Amino acid sequence: MSDKVYELIIIGGGPAGYNAAERASEAGLSVLLAEGRALGGVCLNEGCIPTKTLLYSAKIFDYAKHSAEYGVKFDGASIDHSFVVDRKDRVVKTLTGGVAAAMRAHGVEVVSEFAEILGRSAEGFEIAAGGKKYTGRRLLVCTGSSPALPPIPGLRESVASGFGLTNREVLGLKEAPKRLCVIGGGVIGMEMASYFNSIGTEVTVLEMLDHIGGPTDGEIAKILKRNYEKRGVNFMLGAKVTAVGSSSVTCEYEGKSVEVGCDKVLIAIGRRANSAGFGLEKLGVLCERGAVVTDGRGRTNVAGVWAAGDVNGRSMLAHTAYREGEAAVRDMLGIRDEVDYDAIPSVIYTNPEVASVGLTAEAAKARGLDVIEKSVTMKMSGRYLAENEKGDGIVKLVVGREHRELLGVHMIGGYASEIIYGCAVMVARKMRLSDIEKCVFPHPTVCEVVREACFSIK
Ligand code: NAI
Repeated sequence: MSDKVYELIIIGGGPAGYNAAERASEAGLSVLLAEGRALGGVCLNEGCIPTKTLLYSAKIFDYAKHSAEYGVKFDGASIDHSFVVDRKDRVVKTLTGGVAAAMRAHGVEVVSEFAEILGRSAEGFEIAAGGKKYTGRRLLVCTGSSPALPPIPGLRESVASGFGLTNREVLGLKEAPKRLCVIGGGVIGMEMASYFNSIGTEVTVLEMLDHIGGPTDGEIAKILKRNYEKRGVNFMLGAKVTAVGSSSVTCEYEGKSVEVGCDKVLIAIGRRANSAGFGLEKLGVLCERGAVVTDGRGRTNVAGVWAAGDVNGRSMLAHTAYREGEAAVRDMLGIRDEVDYDAIPSVIYTNPEVASVGLTAEAAKARGLDVIEKSVTMKMSGRYLAENEKGDGIVKLVVGREHRELLGVHMIGGYASEIIYGCAVMVARKMRLSDIEKCVFPHPTVCEVVREACFSIK
């Protein structure tokens, strides 16, 4: 038992946890961070960063394949998947090493072990990690999420045998499968379908709903699907997976039972909060549908216990996790701060990229808001046209009818992932079209389309 009483114990060293540790330590709190796996969480080790590394290689390969359209000729291009995976491992190692260095620089004590909550004492919250006990006055739970594996016959067995892959295993595949079946046409499904399609794998996406992209604006989801159909991805929408075998996936599709043969199957049907198995229930922390219930400041129902990141099930994005961790630390310090969940950008790193922030027209109407929706082609941008003569990108704005305030921006096309941050600021500040029109955007850029879209609303 360590005699020291930490001012803050953080469980989980992903984006929510390590960022909160830095902020809390900067503010003068003594911080202990327990992480049982590698620092950086899903984002750095088996999510955002490794995926983007793979997708960048795929993008270069795609450019090479189509270079003649831009007057660049060379004899042929090929991609070495195992080299790409090795490069990804190097990038991940550099970044996780960077997190460890940042923890040292901030004086955060890191315990590289899984933590278990034992309960509370007069001093605070007691946890055990690596055979030692620690006490903290405050507790921040940042335990993240895991892939959802619903009770579909054969699904769990497929993961055990190596035929079925989650986001973790798919990023480590040393050899590209000839045929990949992707269950779920959401973010992970589409990003990995994109990578494997680019490198020559035959990809089939099975999606239960009648559209891909989850809550993505419907028109944009259709454009995305059209782009990938042209590239040869096979989509089966409205497909209900009934079983996973050892070399195929069976689904109900258009009233028939259909078997889709494949060499690997990627399971990308959402994630579940990691709220069980480490003693949280001993503190009486309220969970709903498996996720820790928090308010906009990360507070749980138990005084002294905060939660941030995927474990609260609210947004499940790394950048939300950063923000939630910061808001929680500020709350601990008595500084008022609240996460604005209506201004969180999201990106699908396909090619073309999809990005959005704020409300879709559908979501706005569901809230009883009277809105105007307007989309414009990205071809209004000279730079977009110069780079994408055949492109079909759009930018769509959702604005309040009465005050013309910006409520949502949705786009598909090159650079969307970078442009969206500016839109997030506009949505967070509820800027009116008349305010945005007075801002100067650099020319020639693709982001100019946002300004043009404002002027298109009369
Ligand atoms: P998701 O929620 O984005 O998509 C899951 C899809 O699977 C949905 O379209 C759903 O309708 C479908 N589905 C569910 N059950 C099914 C079934 N039995 N058969 C067929 N389809 C089924 O979840 P995903 O892609 O697994 O991603 C998990 C989380 O990771 C998300 O919260 C996502 O935001 C996050 N993420 C974010 C990324 C980014 O920001 N670029 C990249 C990758 C993941």
